[in-house]
Order: sequence, then C-alpha cells, then structure tokens
Amino acid sequence: MPETISLRVNGIGHTVTCTGKESLLDILRDYLDLTGAKEGCGYGACGSCTVVVKGEAVKSCTLRGKDKLDGLDVVTIEGLAHRDGTLHPIQQAFLDAGAVQCGFCTPGFIMRLYALFARNPGASDDDIKEALSENLCRCSGYEAIWEAALLARERLNAAG
Ligand code: FES
Ligand code: FES
Repeated sequence: MPETISLRVNGIGHTVTCTGKESLLDILRDYLDLTGAKEGCGYGACGSCTVVVKGEAVKSCTLRGKDKLDGLDVVTIEGLAHRDGTLHPIQQAFLDAGAVQCGFCTPGFIMRLYALFARNPGASDDDIKEALSENLCRCSGYEAIWEAALLARERLNAAG
C-alpha cells in the first residue's frame, strides 16, 4: 500500500508517494533528485549521508518510515550555497584547505559542521573534533578536513 510523506527540504515543501519503507536518504536521492547526501555504509556508520534536521546533524540513512519522516524540515548540502552561486563559507573553506579529494564524504562533513557552527559559532577545538568523529573519509586523510573546519570557524566568526 503506497504511503504519502510530506516534508520540507531546503525551504521547499514536497509530498512524496512511496512504499513508506524508504529512509530519508532514499527520499532525498531517489524521489527528490537531491543526490548531494551520499550512501556509503547505509547503516549509520560513515556519515556520508548527513543532513540537518531541527538544527541537528543526522545520518539520513538511519531515519526510515512515514512516522519518522512525515513533517520533517531538512537542510541538505544543496541548500547551503547562495542563489547567486556563492558557496557557503564552510564549502569555500573545504575548497581552500584542499579538503576535497574524491568528494564522496564532503557533503556529510560540511553538513556536520554546518549544524555545529549554527548551534555554537564559537565551538572549541574539542567540540569540532567530537563532531567530526561521527564522519569517515577514506581518501583525503583527516588533516585537511581539520584545517577546513578551523578555517570555516574563523571565517564564520569574522563575518559575525
Ligand atoms: S550511509 Fe548513512 S551513515 Fe553511512
Ligand atoms: S575525500 Fe574521498 S572519502 Fe573523503
């Protein structure tokens, strides 16, 4: 029996008819064509599917079913850049710090930091480390990602 799920993504309302068993990641990628969030492990371990819900970074592969998804307000990586194409400071910091290699993990890391800095612009180094520990990168090494996070914090705070 098909299910109807209504949710907002990046400020736009959507109603999706699906089986009701899909994860939030499935809805984003397969029904809304928002493919920025990536499916790595599919079971909550890698963070490549991270999006922001109610200000919190969540692994979208772990939210499943109409009761969990109906009415959600979601921000994805596609919602970060400005309409004129200017990148969000966290996105720009990843580029400037050379923190993107294959890029598979990048949207997840950026959304993780987006949630952290929105909640706590003055996040300490330990706060950042703790947040980043939720996400895995298989190819860049973590040093550049760390540099990107520090650069993003600096720029966000300078911008007020
Ligand atoms: S794909 Fe969701 S945590 Fe790995
Ligand atoms: S840049 Fe390739 S997995 Fe992180």
